[in-house]
Amino acid sequence: MEHTPFWASTSFWKKTAIWVTAGSFLLLIVLTFDTMSKVTAGTGRVPDYTVINKRIDYRFDDKKHHSMPVIEGDAPLFGRILNEEEAERLVTLGKKTIQAKNCMNCHTLLGNGAYYAPDLTKAWLDPAWGGEAVRPMLMKMFLMDPVANARTYGSGRKMPNLGITEQEAEGIIAFLKWMSAIDTNGFPYNFKTAGGR
Ligand code: HEC
Repeated sequence: MEHTPFWASTSFWKKTAIWVTAGSFLLLIVLTFDTMSKVTAGTGRVPDYTVINKRIDYRFDDKKHHSMPVIEGDAPLFGRILNEEEAERLVTLGKKTIQAKNCMNCHTLLGNGAYYAPDLTKAWLDPAWGGEAVRPMLMKMFLMDPVANARTYGSGRKMPNLGITEQEAEGIIAFLKWMSAIDTNGFPYNFKTAGGR
Protein backbone atom coordinates (compact mmCIF):
# COMPACT_ATOMS: atom_id res chain seq x y z
CA MET A 1 0.00 0.00 0.00
CA GLU A 2 1.20 3.52 -0.77
CA HIS A 3 2.31 5.69 2.15
CA THR A 4 -0.26 8.52 2.90
CA PRO A 5 1.39 11.93 3.47
CA PHE A 6 0.59 13.40 6.93
CA TRP A 7 -1.48 16.28 5.51
CA ALA A 8 -3.77 13.84 3.74
CA SER A 9 -4.36 11.63 6.79
CA THR A 10 -7.68 11.52 8.61
CA SER A 11 -6.05 12.17 11.96
CA PHE A 12 -4.39 15.39 10.71
CA TRP A 13 -7.72 16.80 9.54
CA LYS A 14 -9.49 15.71 12.72
CA LYS A 15 -6.90 17.56 14.82
CA THR A 16 -7.06 20.60 12.54
CA ALA A 17 -10.86 20.73 12.85
CA ILE A 18 -10.65 20.54 16.64
CA TRP A 19 -8.02 23.33 16.88
CA VAL A 20 -9.82 25.62 14.44
CA THR A 21 -13.14 25.15 16.25
CA ALA A 22 -11.58 25.73 19.68
CA GLY A 23 -9.66 28.77 18.40
CA SER A 24 -12.77 30.33 16.80
CA PHE A 25 -14.74 29.73 19.98
CA LEU A 26 -12.15 31.56 22.07
CA LEU A 27 -12.03 34.41 19.56
CA LEU A 28 -15.82 34.68 19.71
CA ILE A 29 -15.72 34.97 23.50
CA VAL A 30 -13.03 37.67 23.35
CA LEU A 31 -14.94 39.59 20.66
CA THR A 32 -18.20 39.32 22.63
CA PHE A 33 -16.64 40.93 25.72
CA ASP A 34 -14.82 43.49 23.61
CA THR A 35 -18.07 44.47 21.87
CA MET A 36 -20.07 44.55 25.11
CA SER A 37 -17.58 47.00 26.59
CA LYS A 38 -18.24 49.33 23.64
CA VAL A 39 -22.02 49.03 23.15
CA THR A 40 -23.22 48.97 26.76
CA ALA A 41 -24.85 52.19 27.97
CA GLY A 42 -22.47 54.14 30.19
CA THR A 43 -19.30 53.01 28.41
CA GLY A 44 -17.08 54.77 25.86
CA ARG A 45 -19.17 55.79 22.88
CA VAL A 46 -22.58 55.04 24.38
CA PRO A 47 -23.61 57.43 27.18
CA ASP A 48 -25.70 56.25 30.12
CA TYR A 49 -29.43 56.92 30.07
CA THR A 50 -29.30 60.07 32.22
CA VAL A 51 -27.92 61.82 29.14
CA ILE A 52 -31.59 62.54 28.34
CA ASN A 53 -31.34 65.21 31.07
CA LYS A 54 -28.62 67.01 29.10
CA ARG A 55 -28.40 69.25 26.07
CA ILE A 56 -27.13 67.29 23.09
CA ASP A 57 -25.57 68.85 20.06
CA TYR A 58 -23.72 67.42 17.10
CA ARG A 59 -20.69 69.34 15.84
CA PHE A 60 -18.09 68.83 13.18
CA ASP A 61 -14.74 67.78 14.63
CA ASP A 62 -11.92 69.13 12.48
CA LYS A 63 -9.43 66.51 13.69
CA LYS A 64 -11.70 63.52 13.21
CA HIS A 65 -13.26 64.86 10.00
CA HIS A 66 -16.76 63.97 11.08
CA SER A 67 -19.41 65.23 13.47
CA MET A 68 -19.36 64.25 17.13
CA PRO A 69 -22.11 64.41 19.74
CA VAL A 70 -21.47 67.21 22.23
CA ILE A 71 -23.13 66.81 25.62
CA GLU A 72 -23.30 69.98 27.68
CA GLY A 73 -25.53 71.61 30.27
CA ASP A 74 -28.90 70.61 31.62
CA ALA A 75 -31.91 70.27 29.35
CA PRO A 76 -34.41 68.03 31.15
CA LEU A 77 -36.87 66.20 28.93
CA PHE A 78 -40.53 67.05 29.70
CA GLY A 79 -39.34 69.40 32.44
CA ARG A 80 -38.10 66.68 34.79
CA ILE A 81 -34.59 65.58 35.75
CA LEU A 82 -34.74 61.79 35.90
CA ASN A 83 -32.49 59.64 38.04
CA GLU A 84 -30.65 56.71 36.49
CA GLU A 85 -33.41 54.20 37.14
CA GLU A 86 -36.22 56.44 35.86
CA ALA A 87 -34.22 57.39 32.77
CA GLU A 88 -33.49 53.74 31.97
CA ARG A 89 -37.15 52.83 32.44
CA LEU A 90 -38.30 55.58 30.04
CA VAL A 91 -35.69 54.78 27.37
CA THR A 92 -36.52 51.06 27.67
CA LEU A 93 -40.23 51.79 27.20
CA GLY A 94 -39.29 53.68 24.02
CA LYS A 95 -37.08 50.86 22.78
CA LYS A 96 -39.76 48.23 23.41
CA THR A 97 -42.41 50.35 21.71
CA ILE A 98 -40.12 50.81 18.70
CA GLN A 99 -39.68 47.03 18.56
CA ALA A 100 -43.36 46.27 19.12
CA LYS A 101 -44.51 48.70 16.41
CA ASN A 102 -41.77 47.55 14.05
CA CYS A 103 -40.52 51.04 13.15
CA MET A 104 -37.59 49.34 11.36
CA ASN A 105 -40.04 48.17 8.73
CA CYS A 106 -39.74 51.71 7.27
CA HIS A 107 -36.88 53.41 9.15
CA THR A 108 -33.25 52.62 9.91
CA LEU A 109 -31.88 52.91 13.46
CA LEU A 110 -28.09 53.14 13.61
CA GLY A 111 -28.24 52.13 9.95
CA ASN A 112 -30.28 48.95 10.46
CA GLY A 113 -33.72 48.59 8.94
CA ALA A 114 -35.60 49.67 5.86
CA TYR A 115 -35.04 52.63 3.54
CA TYR A 116 -38.60 53.88 3.08
CA ALA A 117 -38.34 56.61 5.72
CA PRO A 118 -35.49 58.70 7.21
CA ASP A 119 -32.79 57.19 9.46
CA LEU A 120 -33.72 57.84 13.09
CA THR A 121 -30.22 57.78 14.63
CA LYS A 122 -30.07 61.59 14.91
CA ALA A 123 -33.81 62.32 14.49
CA TRP A 124 -33.79 64.10 17.86
CA LEU A 125 -31.45 66.70 16.34
CA ASP A 126 -33.43 67.21 13.14
CA PRO A 127 -33.68 71.01 12.66
CA ALA A 128 -37.25 70.55 11.44
CA TRP A 129 -38.35 70.11 15.08
CA GLY A 130 -37.58 73.78 15.72
CA GLY A 131 -36.13 75.15 18.94
CA GLU A 132 -35.37 73.12 22.01
CA ALA A 133 -38.37 74.47 23.90
CA VAL A 134 -40.95 73.15 21.44
CA ARG A 135 -39.13 70.08 20.16
CA PRO A 136 -40.43 67.44 22.61
CA MET A 137 -43.98 68.71 22.22
CA LEU A 138 -43.82 68.73 18.40
CA MET A 139 -42.30 65.23 18.35
CA LYS A 140 -44.99 63.97 20.66
CA MET A 141 -47.75 65.44 18.47
CA PHE A 142 -46.14 63.92 15.39
CA LEU A 143 -45.70 60.44 16.91
CA MET A 144 -49.26 60.34 18.25
CA ASP A 145 -50.76 61.55 14.97
CA PRO A 146 -48.20 61.46 12.14
CA VAL A 147 -50.87 61.76 9.47
CA ALA A 148 -52.25 65.10 10.68
CA ASN A 149 -48.74 66.42 11.45
CA ALA A 150 -46.96 65.04 8.39
CA ARG A 151 -44.06 66.98 6.91
CA THR A 152 -43.14 64.42 4.22
CA TYR A 153 -40.02 66.40 3.14
CA GLY A 154 -41.39 66.64 -0.38
CA SER A 155 -41.29 62.86 -0.71
CA GLY A 156 -45.06 62.52 -0.56
CA ARG A 157 -44.53 59.67 1.92
CA LYS A 158 -46.53 59.71 5.10
CA MET A 159 -46.03 57.84 8.31
CA PRO A 160 -49.18 55.92 9.23
CA ASN A 161 -50.93 56.32 12.55
CA LEU A 162 -49.57 53.57 14.78
CA GLY A 163 -51.81 54.09 17.81
CA ILE A 164 -48.97 55.34 20.02
CA THR A 165 -50.08 56.48 23.50
CA GLU A 166 -48.73 59.62 25.16
CA GLN A 167 -46.61 57.55 27.56
CA GLU A 168 -45.18 55.47 24.69
CA ALA A 169 -44.45 58.66 22.72
CA GLU A 170 -42.49 60.06 25.69
CA GLY A 171 -40.52 56.81 25.85
CA ILE A 172 -39.77 56.94 22.12
CA ILE A 173 -38.61 60.57 22.40
CA ALA A 174 -36.33 59.64 25.34
CA PHE A 175 -34.94 56.74 23.31
CA LEU A 176 -34.34 58.99 20.27
CA LYS A 177 -32.65 61.61 22.44
CA TRP A 178 -30.39 58.98 24.05
CA MET A 179 -29.56 57.45 20.64
CA SER A 180 -28.62 60.87 19.24
CA ALA A 181 -25.90 61.12 21.92
CA ILE A 182 -24.14 57.94 20.74
CA ASP A 183 -20.81 58.53 19.03
CA THR A 184 -21.47 56.76 15.71
CA ASN A 185 -18.20 57.74 14.01
CA GLY A 186 -20.01 60.41 12.03
CA PHE A 187 -22.96 58.28 10.88
CA PRO A 188 -25.18 59.36 9.22
CA TYR A 189 -22.64 61.33 7.23
CA ASN A 190 -23.43 64.97 6.48
CA PHE A 191 -26.29 65.23 8.96
CA LYS A 192 -27.08 68.87 9.64
CA THR A 193 -28.41 69.59 13.10
CA ALA A 194 -30.53 72.24 14.68
CA GLY A 195 -27.60 74.10 16.25
CA GLY A 196 -24.74 72.43 14.39
CA ARG A 197 -22.75 73.30 11.32
C1 HEC B 1 -45.08 52.57 7.17
C2 HEC B 1 -43.81 53.23 7.33
C3 HEC B 1 -43.44 53.83 8.67
C4 HEC B 1 -43.44 53.22 9.91
C5 HEC B 1 -43.85 51.80 10.26
C6 HEC B 1 -42.93 54.20 10.83
N1 HEC B 1 -42.62 55.37 10.19
FE1 HEC B 1 -41.80 57.03 11.01
N2 HEC B 1 -41.87 57.98 9.22
C7 HEC B 1 -42.32 57.42 8.05
C8 HEC B 1 -42.23 58.41 6.98
C9 HEC B 1 -42.61 58.20 5.53
C10 HEC B 1 -41.68 59.58 7.57
C11 HEC B 1 -41.37 60.94 6.90
C12 HEC B 1 -42.68 61.68 6.71
C13 HEC B 1 -42.96 62.75 7.71
O1 HEC B 1 -42.06 63.21 8.43
O2 HEC B 1 -44.14 63.20 7.72
C14 HEC B 1 -41.47 59.28 8.98
C15 HEC B 1 -40.94 60.18 9.89
C16 HEC B 1 -40.61 59.87 11.20
C17 HEC B 1 -39.91 60.73 12.11
C18 HEC B 1 -39.35 62.10 11.78
C19 HEC B 1 -37.92 61.88 11.32
C20 HEC B 1 -37.02 63.07 11.38
O3 HEC B 1 -35.85 62.93 10.98
O4 HEC B 1 -37.42 64.13 11.81
C21 HEC B 1 -39.81 60.08 13.29
C22 HEC B 1 -39.15 60.57 14.57
C23 HEC B 1 -40.44 58.80 13.12
N3 HEC B 1 -40.92 58.69 11.83
C24 HEC B 1 -40.52 57.84 14.11
C25 HEC B 1 -41.12 56.60 13.94
C26 HEC B 1 -41.27 55.66 15.00
C27 HEC B 1 -40.76 55.84 16.42
C28 HEC B 1 -41.93 54.58 14.47
C29 HEC B 1 -42.40 53.33 15.18
C30 HEC B 1 -43.22 53.57 16.36
C31 HEC B 1 -42.16 54.85 13.06
N4 HEC B 1 -41.65 56.10 12.79
C32 HEC B 1 -42.76 53.96 12.19
C33 HEC B 1 -42.77 56.13 7.87
C34 HEC B 1 -42.91 55.17 8.86
